[in-house]
Amino acid sequence: MDRIKIIGGAPLEGTIPISGAKNAALPLMIASLLTDETLTLQNVPRLADVSLLFDILANHGVDTSFQGKRTGQDKLAGQTVDLCARAIVDTRAPYELVSRMRASFWVIGPLLARMGEAEVSLPGGCAIGTRPVDFFIDGLKALGAEIEIERGYVIARAKKGLIGNRVAFPRPSVGATHTILMAATLAHGETVIENAACEPEIADLADCLTAMGARIEGAGTSTIVVEGVPRLTGARHAVLPDRIEAGTFALATAMAGGDVTLEGASAAHLTRPIELMEQAGAEISVTNRGIRVRRNGHGIEAVDAETAPYPGFPTDLQAQFMALMTSGKGTSHITETIFENRFMHVQELARLGAKISLNGQMATIEGVRSLKGAPVMATDLRASVSLVIAGLAAEGETEVSRIYHLDRGFEHLEQKLSRCGAQITRISG
Ligand code: EPZ
Repeated sequence: MDRIKIIGGAPLEGTIPISGAKNAALPLMIASLLTDETLTLQNVPRLADVSLLFDILANHGVDTSFQGKRTGQDKLAGQTVDLCARAIVDTRAPYELVSRMRASFWVIGPLLARMGEAEVSLPGGCAIGTRPVDFFIDGLKALGAEIEIERGYVIARAKKGLIGNRVAFPRPSVGATHTILMAATLAHGETVIENAACEPEIADLADCLTAMGARIEGAGTSTIVVEGVPRLTGARHAVLPDRIEAGTFALATAMAGGDVTLEGASAAHLTRPIELMEQAGAEISVTNRGIRVRRNGHGIEAVDAETAPYPGFPTDLQAQFMALMTSGKGTSHITETIFENRFMHVQELARLGAKISLNGQMATIEGVRSLKGAPVMATDLRASVSLVIAGLAAEGETEVSRIYHLDRGFEHLEQKLSRCGAQITRISG
């Protein structure tokens, strides 16, 4: 298995191109199931999760073709992909595929809306939590689907099509909002989604669905209104920049010190993380190229953080922010409110000399003068990059194993960092 080796101490200087957002690309690809015409997606990141979803969609009959390289195109640029579900040949999503990536469960919405039936494996839990799907099931039932759960599969039917209705989520859920939004586009009548998730990726999906002929109001707010239409057409849509990747590299620069421009990043999608990083001592400015992050000389201040649904501080940046706080001047507290088990990076950061104690959903971090490099192990996608961030500032060598977790969500990570002066290499085998 590949590993990443980092020699800490080098500041980051230069420019990092931000890729298309993983958490927008996945629902956008799934939206191709809603039409028999071609959906062209631009700026699609080259990630393990994206490749896996291509396989899952192919299982349903989606044809995929990739645009080749163009002269002068930066090798880190996103890819352009055509997806076409001319005919859906199989409405069953098997356990061996769905269990490898939770978001593939979301195909249940488009399959049900277009075909009137779907048999999708329950996704099961993962390292960060049990991750139930009760909001999805209640929402699809509200739209008139008959749902049974048998032998680990959700069997859904709506032979006369889905009927628009009010769907109110007990708490915001990104996946459930994506799924009900997609299903509602082909339902008969109006659907109102209340307590919808407000993440920018929801609005990006809605923009694409609208280009396909859907009628949607309010995406990006907690109330979304959808007027169903008989069919959707193909469209062309560019995946929005990845705010979690941008936030991650901003935190890496705050940790290592230096001066980095995050090319293509949208500051509007990172308001809360930018506030906290400025409190911690980073200087952040918005330029016409993206976001510029600097930390030169002065130390890192201890800052408290609490994760929350968007526009609050994203849970997907919690581990990365904790890495920064390990070197803060004083004590900070980080509270995780979204997932029940998202502190697995703590024991690995402790191996680098971090002083962190846990009490339920709150971590208390006593800043230390400097971390010391050591071998550490990645446990989930965002935890693994927090170890890379810590390794950039630790004295000596840090080796991160099980980096297949990293490859799920960060495109060309070591190239992007080494271009800015980090001493980071991938060791294969
Ligand atoms: C999406 O996951 C993201 N994944 C996650 O990013 C992100 O951390 C999460 O949203 C933030 O809310 C993708 O977009 C592919 P949720 P999702 O439904 O949709 C509970 C990453 O690292 N819940 O918003 O699965 C759930 O258990 C990943 O890129 C129910 O109880 O998350 C959680 O506590 C990790 N019942 C809370 O809601 C349900 O039916 C929010 O989860 C659904 C969710």
